[in-house]
Amino acid sequence: MCGIVGYIGKQQAVPILLDGLKKLEYRGYDSAGIAVLEESEIKLCKSLGRLAVLEEKLGQDFSAATCGVGHTRWATHGRPSDVNAHPHCDCTGKFAIVHNGIIENYIELKEWLAERGHHILSETDTEVLPHLLEHFYAGDLEEAVRLVTEKLRGAFAMAVLSYNHPQKLVAVRKDSPLIIGLGDEEYFIASDIPAILKYTRKTYILDDGEIAVLQEDGVRLMDFQGKPVHKEIYEVKWDAQAAEKGGYEHFMLKEIFEQPRALRDTLLSRLENDLVVLQEIDLTAEEIIHYQRVVIVACGTAYHAGLIGKTLIERWVRIPVEVDIASEFRYRSPLIDAQTLVIVISQSGETADTLAALREAKRHGARVIAVTNVVGSSIARDADDVLYTWAGLEIAVASTKAYITQLAAMVLLALFLAEAKGSLPEERIKEIVTALRQLPGQAQEVLDQAGLVRQLATVFQPAEDAFFIGRGLDWSVALEGALKLKEISYIHAEAYAAGELKHGTIALITKDTPVIALVTQHDVYEKTKSNIEEVKARDGWVIGMTYVGDQRLEKVADQVFYLPKTLSELAPILAVIPLQLLAYYVSIARGCDADKPRNLAKSVTVE
Ligand code: G6P
Repeated sequence: MCGIVGYIGKQQAVPILLDGLKKLEYRGYDSAGIAVLEESEIKLCKSLGRLAVLEEKLGQDFSAATCGVGHTRWATHGRPSDVNAHPHCDCTGKFAIVHNGIIENYIELKEWLAERGHHILSETDTEVLPHLLEHFYAGDLEEAVRLVTEKLRGAFAMAVLSYNHPQKLVAVRKDSPLIIGLGDEEYFIASDIPAILKYTRKTYILDDGEIAVLQEDGVRLMDFQGKPVHKEIYEVKWDAQAAEKGGYEHFMLKEIFEQPRALRDTLLSRLENDLVVLQEIDLTAEEIIHYQRVVIVACGTAYHAGLIGKTLIERWVRIPVEVDIASEFRYRSPLIDAQTLVIVISQSGETADTLAALREAKRHGARVIAVTNVVGSSIARDADDVLYTWAGLEIAVASTKAYITQLAAMVLLALFLAEAKGSLPEERIKEIVTALRQLPGQAQEVLDQAGLVRQLATVFQPAEDAFFIGRGLDWSVALEGALKLKEISYIHAEAYAAGELKHGTIALITKDTPVIALVTQHDVYEKTKSNIEEVKARDGWVIGMTYVGDQRLEKVADQVFYLPKTLSELAPILAVIPLQLLAYYVSIARGCDADKPRNLAKSVTVE
């Protein structure tokens, strides 16, 4: 995580660096800093807290600078503080570096540097970088950077500013994302595209093991051995407006309301007549038949989408599916081989754990399909096939529209596999495809009830705990609902398989504990209803969720939220929307920052 920016050109650097950092705050926001070259000196300004604090501290300073680097931090090594904020400098103040990733061998490097007389001031892993540069520098900046990379273990994207080379920036990428923006006699470095989109659409997306040297007359690329690299320019198609709030108070709310569009874009072009057609997956029916198992790997919200994928694939394709958390998967010698189809899910396509899991799966000979939202991301590039979720740029830390499109992708994939295996009758596929076409409009109907959710949120505002219960697919949605509430309102929330509550957790139910019960799965309807009765018998306050026209829950729940009628298998796509809205409105009512929850970052590029 952390966001990096760099600028070299003819304009004032500071506003461009700050603007870029604003767009990257989703990657971390506990402290920020910039370093510029001004009057033949490296000048530094760093500060604990959000970017706004840095902006205020800077005032009109450094206005003559036309070259610099900046950073917004999510702490991994060393608590958030002024001194731990980036950029970091060497002993002489001649090099300033911003870094994203983790230098795994930083302790031994620190000792090595200390033996050579270097003074390290911060608790970070990053600070070894400028000191190593100071050590290796002998007049050639690129060569010194190259020598530094040879000493490092771990993940690093970095941007280097040097007093000795006032018209040069050097960018390095290994296992953490980094792009170069190509303007008109001005060049940019950034962790992600939104940071530079206002200035240019032309980019180089650096690959692992590449170095970029930015100078007034252009950008040179090389590998870690110093060999020149030739790369196609990647032209960004989406526009800067996508990165603005468009009249909404928060990105999260805007993104929740974009879900009908996101579903339409993800689903409709892949439905042909009564079938699912996934041209992007280069697998024949014969090849699909030979897979004995599916393994889905992801983190966070994407993992919750994977749980739904498991149920759908097992139900429709009749092959066993395992879902694993990416950070666990690679360290437990997973049992996968060429007969295993691996699906990795990642909104950003850059999550370090998921990327590492993907590589582990490929090492075992498995075929990997990536479901991701970011074209050209590391995960998209490393996978064998990519199914893009066309959610569009997602900025709020709490994922909403990306999740809903991940669910849509799970439905598409499960149907695609079922078609190839012949495991579902044609009529059933037709029925599901017909229901899929209705989903975007139905999602809008759910959003039209936002006012009701806002009222329900008042019950949660003073709560310290909340429970989400459901069976089958409802349980998987409950997990996502609980995560959303925790993430942005800081209420302790737990999701339970409705039938499991009585085996312990029901002891925590009191009259002050709101419980959301999802009851959209017909086969277990009565069972979940009984579980609601159990909660009511302990004075819990229950919101039930079922389909419009079903009055039965009104007799047991305190409030009922109605969803448009759809198939049980597609219900999660609609049921999650009120849960997202609820988390949002509770967060606002409690005075939290829904877009930037404490301690979190959107894209986690460290393991
Ligand atoms: C972070 C975010 C989560 C997200 C997870 C996986 O923890 O805060 O919202 O679900 O990473 O991210 P990915 O980009 O791989 O879907």
